[in-house]
Amino acid sequence: MLNLNNKVSIITGASSGIGKATAILFSKLGSDLVILGRDEKALDETISKCNTKTKIIKIIGDVKRSEIQLKLVTECLTNFGKITTLVNNAAVFRLSSILNTKIEEYDEVMNTNLKSVLQLTQLCAPHLIKEKGTVINVSSIAGTKSFQNLLPYSMSKAALDQFTKCVALELADKGVRVNSVNPGTIETNIHRRAGYTEEQYKTFLERCKTTHALGRTGQPDEVANTIAFLASDLSSFTTGEIIHVDGGRHAMTPR
Ligand SMILES: NC(=O)c1ccc[n+]([C@@H]2O[C@H](COP(=O)([O-])OP(=O)(O)OC[C@H]3O[C@@H](n4cnc5c(N)ncnc54)[C@H](OP(=O)(O)O)[C@@H]3O)[C@@H](O)[C@H]2O)c1
Repeated sequence: MLNLNNKVSIITGASSGIGKATAILFSKLGSDLVILGRDEKALDETISKCNTKTKIIKIIGDVKRSEIQLKLVTECLTNFGKITTLVNNAAVFRLSSILNTKIEEYDEVMNTNLKSVLQLTQLCAPHLIKEKGTVINVSSIAGTKSFQNLLPYSMSKAALDQFTKCVALELADKGVRVNSVNPGTIETNIHRRAGYTEEQYKTFLERCKTTHALGRTGQPDEVANTIAFLASDLSSFTTGEIIHVDGGRHAMTPR
């Protein structure tokens, strides 16, 4: 039976979408949590849906800032004495191509989606080694498949997938497992934040019925379920794995 009893999990980007669903599920499965976001009201909303029997610490701040990364780790150790699980989920999505990507936009995407993941994982690694813990990175179908007009985002996720596999090899003999989930289109706030109007978002979701083999978009808890499996002892022989949670989109080829 899947459970996360005795786990202490750090989850970034828990104020919305996949991170929020993951925090709620993890707490229901028995994990204590340290959760991060910039929107305090939204983080409180996440906490209000969590299991009241688990302890939850919220950290408000930007995952790109090294003092916030350090705070996540020190608060976790001070309150719980250990870190068993790191879910690197926070990310930004931008619509831009080689013709119009601004370097500031490139930096924001790479620093949020990739550099902060390396920095936070580095800070957590000694503590994860002590607990033979796990890291789960939230990547994307854009890490393994190529799309137009998602250039820095796709680059960040492709690099994240290589990060997952390399770090899995580096930490394997220390008993730490490192895996990735790569979602297809999941209904969250990420597309609206990238500038989609309601009308454009509706059209996009409609088109997703044809771009995902299962004929629909996914929901945040469908990704959270796979993250929970990877965080649990049920996946004890799985590391360096990139798992698509994408309704079969990665297997599709235009014809
Ligand atoms: N939804 C999809 O279709 C889809 C598809 C493939 C992959 N993904 C991946 O899934 C993950 C979660 O995305 P989502 O769809 O759930 O998006 P979302 O609803 O926009 O949530 C993003 C989360 O990341 C946090 N975040 C972003 N930048 C941050 C920063 N600088 N500092 C701290 N927190 C930050 C946000 O927190 P605040 O708002 O509080 O700042 C929010 O909690 C991402 O890694 C994304 O790339 C999503």
